[in-house]
Amino acid sequence: MTWILGVRITSLQHALPSASSAQASQLFPSLIDESRTPCSGNGIRYQGDLTCFCHACWSGPDCSVQEDIKTCMVNAESGSPFLFEDYWVAHPEAEVRIKPSYQEGYGWYQPQLERAIRAIHAQVGNAVTDDRHIVIGMGSQQVLTAAFFAVSNASRSPEVDPTKICAETPYYNSYPRTAAWFSSSLFEWSNTTDLEANAASPVIQVMTSPNNPDGSMRNKTVPGAFGIYDHAYYWPHFTPISAAVEYGDEDIAVFTLSKLTGHAGSRIGWGIVKDPKLAEMMQTYIVGDSGYVQENQLRATHLLHHALADQGGLLAYAREHMEHRWKVLHEVVSKSSRLSLQALGQAQLDKWTGTVRSPSPAYAWLHCNESKDQDCHAAMMAGGIIGRPGSAFGADSSFNRLELLMQPAVFETLAAKLELFVNG
Ligand SMILES: Cc1ncc(COP(=O)(O)O)c(C=O)c1O
Repeated sequence: MTWILGVRITSLQHALPSASSAQASQLFPSLIDESRTPCSGNGIRYQGDLTCFCHACWSGPDCSVQEDIKTCMVNAESGSPFLFEDYWVAHPEAEVRIKPSYQEGYGWYQPQLERAIRAIHAQVGNAVTDDRHIVIGMGSQQVLTAAFFAVSNASRSPEVDPTKICAETPYYNSYPRTAAWFSSSLFEWSNTTDLEANAASPVIQVMTSPNNPDGSMRNKTVPGAFGIYDHAYYWPHFTPISAAVEYGDEDIAVFTLSKLTGHAGSRIGWGIVKDPKLAEMMQTYIVGDSGYVQENQLRATHLLHHALADQGGLLAYAREHMEHRWKVLHEVVSKSSRLSLQALGQAQLDKWTGTVRSPSPAYAWLHCNESKDQDCHAAMMAGGIIGRPGSAFGADSSFNRLELLMQPAVFETLAAKLELFVNG
């Protein structure tokens, strides 16, 4: 199914009875995504580009040269969700075309996206949205900043200290970075969660659940804190869905399209907010910061419509890959004692499938066990595997985080490099 300004392309084709099939196919060429073809299946050439982006350990103008697995580098640093690339190559019908006449002028909030967000949560069963506001922003990064701004403004009076923002260690490295960038009298990062919130010293605790980097499920531990639940990974491909989250006035839930469909570059995230005053203040921040972008909202709406119509096919695809990755990781890491993986949470009933499932987190949080690998990140880098060091997450240097969201073929290369490392 393809949508053009909310109209399915199939119905448009049916609305062209007078056009010959040749004319029709010129207007609506059969949709095949050939981005992989010029790159030997080992990379992708993006629309309008002239060069191939080759998968790790492949090179050459058409990605046909296989590099030596012992010396080539695999980048597992970022968390850019290419996991879904194969799925979307197989589903070009979900593309979006936008007429140039479409919504000139400054952008505004698109209610059809809000409806699609509410519908996907209802279908998956991971969040209650009834009686709650949806605040849409340019990625969950902006929604989180809007929440920091709104919550710390709400607790503002002249004698109040800057609101402390904290998260248990290891924490997603973007939270302290945001607080440092703003260097604001409104909010500041706290390196500890050993805090107690009160009217003069307000606290925001961020619970990343499942957590980046270690996949653990988190709950509020700071008494009296305002809670921001970052649920970027609360989708069935990363964790069993035990219940729909349902927060009151003292908490906000934040989700992102990035880890649901892979379209991180489309920059769409959203907050589910019960308190109307907070929702309004978050919206004020977003309008003042960037305003609303029509194209990314339209793309997100179409992708969510596709996911809804696919009845979980996208999520099942991603889940199958994540489960395979964890099986392979456990096998590889168990081959020696050089590395250990984080313990995964208990298997539990996943309400989405009605089956008992184990978590399959987006990141491997590795510990280097040998004294020669005290700087785990540097040791693995020397073995051709680029991760993100434990220190970025408030942990020590014996930890290293590897992302597991790459294309399937890149994951297999990473697994081969890891096997060399553990046997080294
Ligand atoms: C826990 C967590 N929250 C938020 C984000 C940011 O997501 P977005 O792409 O929506 O800005 C990420 C990205 O990796 C993340 O891991």
